[in-house]
Amino acid sequence: MSDIYFKLVNTPVGKTAAQSLGLPSPVPLNRLKRADQAFIEGKVLVGAGIGGRAIATIGGVLGASAATLYHASGKASLEDSSKAGNKAQALELGSDIETKFSALVFDASGLKGPEDLRALYDFFHPTIKKLGANARVVIVGQDPATCRKAPQAAAQQALEGFTRSIGKEIGKKGATANLLWMAPNAEKQLESSLRFFLSARSAYVSGQVVRVGKSASTPTINPVAPLTGKVALVTGASRGIGASIAETLARDGATVVGLDIEPAMADLENVMRAIKGKALSCDITAQDAPVKIADFVENHFGGVDLVIHNAGITRDKTLGNMPEHFWDITIAVNLTAEEHINDELMSRELLREDGRIVCISSISGIAGNFGQSNYSAAKSGVIGYVEAMAKQVKNGITINAVAPGFIETQMTAAMPLTLREVGRRMNSLSQGGQPVDVAETIAWYCSPASGGVNGNVVRVCGQSLIGR
Ligand SMILES: NC(=O)c1ccc[n+]([C@@H]2O[C@H](COP(=O)([O-])OP(=O)(O)OC[C@H]3O[C@@H](n4cnc5c(N)ncnc54)[C@H](O)[C@@H]3O)[C@@H](O)[C@H]2O)c1
Repeated sequence: MSDIYFKLVNTPVGKTAAQSLGLPSPVPLNRLKRADQAFIEGKVLVGAGIGGRAIATIGGVLGASAATLYHASGKASLEDSSKAGNKAQALELGSDIETKFSALVFDASGLKGPEDLRALYDFFHPTIKKLGANARVVIVGQDPATCRKAPQAAAQQALEGFTRSIGKEIGKKGATANLLWMAPNAEKQLESSLRFFLSARSAYVSGQVVRVGKSASTPTINPVAPLTGKVALVTGASRGIGASIAETLARDGATVVGLDIEPAMADLENVMRAIKGKALSCDITAQDAPVKIADFVENHFGGVDLVIHNAGITRDKTLGNMPEHFWDITIAVNLTAEEHINDELMSRELLREDGRIVCISSISGIAGNFGQSNYSAAKSGVIGYVEAMAKQVKNGITINAVAPGFIETQMTAAMPLTLREVGRRMNSLSQGGQPVDVAETIAWYCSPASGGVNGNVVRVCGQSLIGR
């Protein structure tokens, strides 16, 4: 459904009117135009607090990019910034910086206590107003759960509040801020996440905290077709977010099996024809669905690498008015079916080494929603399931979730007008997301280089004001 307000405020007259009335003025977001597009261009400034462990990795990734790289200089708290390598030119931080930055990247992993937080102020205070439209802020810290001393855990946890606040301040420029919490010795695993959060692929992801752990494999990144040779199963692939996931994974080189219910077959076949995928008619709640799916991937491909549990439904009613079949079917489609399908695929060892499972939660599963006790319970359950399974999966397999906020699909087009308008505007970017924003996040999880990204729930919500 077209966002008329968005179109209006992006005309010269509309922009002036919105500014004078103090109304939100959402900026058009730059999304990926070509698969071979550079992940970052323009001028990027990097910095590090004392003892930062990731600065050399950050400097290496950005030094090999299409961006012009600078490192902060001139402040004692930031002297480790020079470890970004010789591709980075020194830039004295002061009030007279002329440059507009496409990204600011800060390594805060060395912060040992609250007094070290001053480095954040020293780096961002003179630079934050120099961010261009659609710019990126990425902060790298150490996962507080892995900090042995309380002051260190305090400083690292402080990064969460800081990043989320920055996201709210820069959202009016269409810019985003995200935090990567590394485990000790996980520097080598940062690259795929750095690339994603600095790129146009993460246009609608802001205010997120991602844990990056260690992984046995650190494959070289294929930036254009990272999923070459992989087989992906996408449920609910005939339309909306599912169709976009199928198209995005195919763009990245995967062979896709799209699944949907029988009435959606004509649409599903159209989507699959365009991406040379295979269509599978199946109701995921049917008792024989797990076996049918497992047989299909075994017979056609000998197994599967990427399993994307996208199919979902809503059956809204306040709890006192909710018929029991609304409750049962909503839990079955959004939660129980995923578990049964995974169990079948894993018990038959059809999910291959370095496999990826991605489940779709929702902002309703984080914050709850009026009239959605069934849906919110199911989508919260998805988070519990993913976090528990992340500790159990083996052979390089990861499991993660995305929690979309307001995404422009047939599901949200069916919402009452006022609710729809509130959903679109109540986030830092003041607009709804596109299905491709969810799909790009899933493609990042699926990358062979994302082996350290396990057990995360990333919201694709433009940093919604609802929930965390
Ligand atoms: N659109 C949003 O703003 C939003 C927000 C949060 C979460 N989500 C979640 O994202 C996912 C996709 O949402 P969407 O907006 O594209 O929805 P949609 O209704 O447009 O598409 C859902 C797809 O799932 C399929 N499906 C439903 N029941 C099925 C079953 N029993 N077996 C097989 N397939 C089945 C449908 O036929 C449809 O193709 C869902 O899990 C949804 O809960 C969407």
